[in-house]
Amino acid sequence: MESIFLNTLLGRECHRPPVWLMRQAGRVLPRYQKLREQYAFSELINTPALAAQVTLLPVEDLGVDAAILFSDILMVPMAMGMELEWTEQGPKFLNPLAAEKRPSSCLKVQPERLDNVYRAIDLVVDKSEMPLIGFCGAPLTTLCYMLQGMSTKQTFPEAKRFFYEHKEETRRLIDAVTDLSIAYAIKQVEHGIDAFQLFDSHAGLLPADIYAELFLPAVCRITDAVRSMGTPLIFFPKGLGCGLKQITPDVCDFVSIDWQMSLTEARQMVHPEVGLQGNIDPHLLFASHEEIRRVMEGYKPFFREHHRWVVNLGHGVLADTPVENVKFLINWIKETDWR
Ligand code: CP3
Repeated sequence: MESIFLNTLLGRECHRPPVWLMRQAGRVLPRYQKLREQYAFSELINTPALAAQVTLLPVEDLGVDAAILFSDILMVPMAMGMELEWTEQGPKFLNPLAAEKRPSSCLKVQPERLDNVYRAIDLVVDKSEMPLIGFCGAPLTTLCYMLQGMSTKQTFPEAKRFFYEHKEETRRLIDAVTDLSIAYAIKQVEHGIDAFQLFDSHAGLLPADIYAELFLPAVCRITDAVRSMGTPLIFFPKGLGCGLKQITPDVCDFVSIDWQMSLTEARQMVHPEVGLQGNIDPHLLFASHEEIRRVMEGYKPFFREHHRWVVNLGHGVLADTPVENVKFLINWIKETDWR
């Protein structure tokens, strides 16, 4: 099947930009909420038939141009032996690593705990021709949760302190997370994903030069492994700001931009051979249809100059977002005249 999403990732000019949304596969979809009345989140992600079904809901109910695997970035820490509870407030590790004397020695890698993810991919690939995006967390974001245990406010003071206080141990943890992430990503590709997104939702936690020294080499180890198999790679370093200057074709094929700068500004910082994804503020989806249309019209001049662009939000779809507004946005993108 011809895919506007894959064609755009490959650099082919299309009549409109493709669209998918981070966190499209949960939350706002009534059919997802129905399933959540029956099943816990952990059951949904760990049961291949259910995970495959939820993966395809946004394709069927929203009309997006790509599916993203219904899973979570915290699968990798779980496969390193960390016990995780999904609470009303979010995920919570029972034994946060920052409290341990030698955290790297507490990890017991159990790659078979990821097997259900590969079965879910097999089912999606069997059922649908829609391009499927696989993913994992980047080492910084993954370690934030592993060290801190949980964060209701999405700030990670203990994890951040740990990175400065225990640099050698941080390097050991980065290596361990990176090794398993590479194995996980390669398996996802072998099972048939069409593109891969690496989520670094907390890349803005550290100064850009420290990020570049400590974490970017590990990011590149993961992105190299995926890209060497011919799979296009999207990197989402949320909050990196001026650090976007470091995003060259050595790092990724596309970079996903948050809402803090315009795409035109991001375009000036990111290497010209790297495509852009983003960057609608998720809160725009609480506004009226007129306001959504007005903001989206503002993207048209950008598309006319830069066809290597995938429409997405600057971060995930927010809880309580009205589903009619999400549908309005997707339909508008697919029906408007971009030229
Ligand atoms: O994008 C998709 O729709 C695919 C599935 C997906 C989920 N999580 C499902 C999920 C993806 C790609 C993720 C990535 C993820 N998970 C990230 C990186 C992106 C980001 O949002 O920053 C992070 C940091 C996590 C960790 C995580 N998972 C947190 C902090 C939470 C609780 C808060 C929240 O956002 O809901 C989750 C739970 C989670 N992961 C839900 C879903 C659909 C909500 C579970 C529910 O109650 O149904």
